[in-house]
Amino acid sequence: MSIQPTPNPSDKPVILTGDRTTGALHLGHYAGSLRNRVALQHSHRQFLLLADAQALTDNANDPAKVTRNVLEVATDYLAAGIDPQVTTICVQSALPALAELTMLYLNFVTVARLERNPTVKDEIKMRGFGRDIPAGFLCYPAAQAADITAFKATVVPVGEDQLPMIEQTNEIVRRLNRQMGREVLVEAKALIPQVGRLPGVDGKAKMSKSLGNAIVLSASDAEIAEAVNRMYTDPNHLRVSDPGTVEGNVVFTYLDAFDPDVEAVADLKAQYRRGGLGDVALKRRLEQLLRDLLGPIRERRAALASDPDTVMDILKAGAARARQVTAATQAEVHAGLGLFTWT
Ligand code: TRP
Repeated sequence: MSIQPTPNPSDKPVILTGDRTTGALHLGHYAGSLRNRVALQHSHRQFLLLADAQALTDNANDPAKVTRNVLEVATDYLAAGIDPQVTTICVQSALPALAELTMLYLNFVTVARLERNPTVKDEIKMRGFGRDIPAGFLCYPAAQAADITAFKATVVPVGEDQLPMIEQTNEIVRRLNRQMGREVLVEAKALIPQVGRLPGVDGKAKMSKSLGNAIVLSASDAEIAEAVNRMYTDPNHLRVSDPGTVEGNVVFTYLDAFDPDVEAVADLKAQYRRGGLGDVALKRRLEQLLRDLLGPIRERRAALASDPDTVMDILKAGAARARQVTAATQAEVHAGLGLFTWT
């Protein structure tokens, strides 16, 4: 029996990445991955997954929230500059191949290995599951392996916290390929941004809407100003003339992440360390920078939000394209494992 390889009409490397649909995207998402995706969409064949099924693994009591946010996140993608002509945006639950692949992959990973996944471990602690971990939640790394491999992605632009997922995906790939005796699945590489994870405006390690320390992509100028004013700097920097500390100073972390004028930022850091640069002046620079970045995104977002039919049409077209690609991989794995083929 001949098995058709997954069609990839271009010879561009394939990107698959995505987001759980639990809330609108914020600057942390933008710096962590979204701007990489916008930059890479023409040189790669890119798929973006709205991970509603994964969002359910810890939101099973509120599916309406998960579904509502499918449109929110899709709108954020488009407003941030994702071009649906070149990037396929698709909803995870619209792709049944992913569900079968997940089920098959679960036989190639142990419960102990899932429990050792550092990201899963952290999240279990953060969510306070205790011993009542939803099975779907514990197993979501296998589902994420299905997401990545179904598209035969080799590049996965994600934040640092997702590294253990890629590592576990590649383990599953090697196990399955060994079992199938052929390189049906391909290993993927994470693409981590050069700047580290963006902290919340309060200086906490993680920016998160639920922690109330995020700047959402749709933030108004007033919200930007309020967030920047609230930003954690150096608590010992009381007078403008005092020398200040740059490390751990959130304003500088954000300037490093968003200010294209790297030399000017280096000068500001030197001046701040010497003394003579006030927090207010520094914050005004960042505020202007964020206004210039988010203003156009907010405008595009507002236009799209008033036209949800267009966004839905984009998702429908994306689902059709993604179904073809994922079903081809599903058939290959199905046959590769020696299961009956019925068509
Ligand atoms: N786990 C990712 C998040 O927390 C979402 C996600 C689902 C994903 N499937 C993926 C990311 C595949 C990269 C590749 O937002």
